[in-house]
Amino acid sequence: MLPLLRLLQDGSFHSGEALGAALGVSRSAIWKQLQSLEAELALPVHRVRGRGYRLESPLLLLDENVLAAGESSPMWPLRILPSVDSTNAEVLRRLAGGQVPPFIILAERQTSGRGRRGRNWVSPFGENLYYSLALQVDGGMRQLEGLSLVVGLALLRALRAAGMTAAGLKWPNDVLVDGRKVAGILLELSGDPADVCHVVIGIGVNVNMLADRGAIDQPWTSMRAELGGLVDRNEFVSELNRQLSLYLGIHQASGFSALRDEWQDNHLWQGRNVTLTTGARPVSGVVLGVDRSGALRLRVAGVEQSFSGGELSLRLNNDS
Ligand code: BTN
Repeated sequence: MLPLLRLLQDGSFHSGEALGAALGVSRSAIWKQLQSLEAELALPVHRVRGRGYRLESPLLLLDENVLAAGESSPMWPLRILPSVDSTNAEVLRRLAGGQVPPFIILAERQTSGRGRRGRNWVSPFGENLYYSLALQVDGGMRQLEGLSLVVGLALLRALRAAGMTAAGLKWPNDVLVDGRKVAGILLELSGDPADVCHVVIGIGVNVNMLADRGAIDQPWTSMRAELGGLVDRNEFVSELNRQLSLYLGIHQASGFSALRDEWQDNHLWQGRNVTLTTGARPVSGVVLGVDRSGALRLRVAGVEQSFSGGELSLRLNNDS
């Protein structure tokens, strides 16, 4: 299906005959593939008698050759899948099957994209970025301390390089623009941190999505909505790889403390009055920053407390 999509991605009309000739198949084979595009990838195709077929809106597909050409130094091996349940789940399966990290899985679409705290991550075809990087954890728990915050910094740098100057971080690792989420990070571990362990760094970025293609349960935006034009996802992946390689290198060599000030400088809610949902009961306080392990420091009723854990969620209080 992908070769056909590459011909259609410009959003212009293509006759069934021309498509068949380009791919060396019959017109009826093209027609069948177009039906699969609509059914399996939920991609609307318009058909006009006498003109042919076109996608409802143009796409810029991810391309392994373009990505390889865009890398100035050798990066992690990478695979692009047309559709998968979740790139994180796929990486975990590949690790379980013996694939040796580091490697990256990208997908054009996720059918069960996973967000933090059991949420769904809306993942329509060809519009956004669904990226998972598998790494081996060699340094035990220390290598994991603050890791998700460091990934957030790298992601923020990549977004800024693409022109998203107003983007900032929200603890632990959301990227927001004007209070609306543009990207999120989900780290998953496999194995035992005291022994052989792998971490999957899952990154979702709303790149070119303009309409809610699912049921997004929080304020959101996309790079395209902020920048006013279609974003080249291949270029963005290359920049993200560069920034991740840089920041993960610093983190591995010097730990989170080397990046703590930079993280706090980019924390949108530094000094703000917030409420943290901890599962049991909400805690309100003023954000002091993060500690050397990446835990959130709050001043609660005059006393400093630290909070960490994947189930925590932070919101801004109206009075701050
Ligand atoms: C969040 O809730 O903010 C985290 C969202 C993480 C989504 C990404 S998309 C790529 C990777 N695969 C998944 O299933 N989830 C992450």
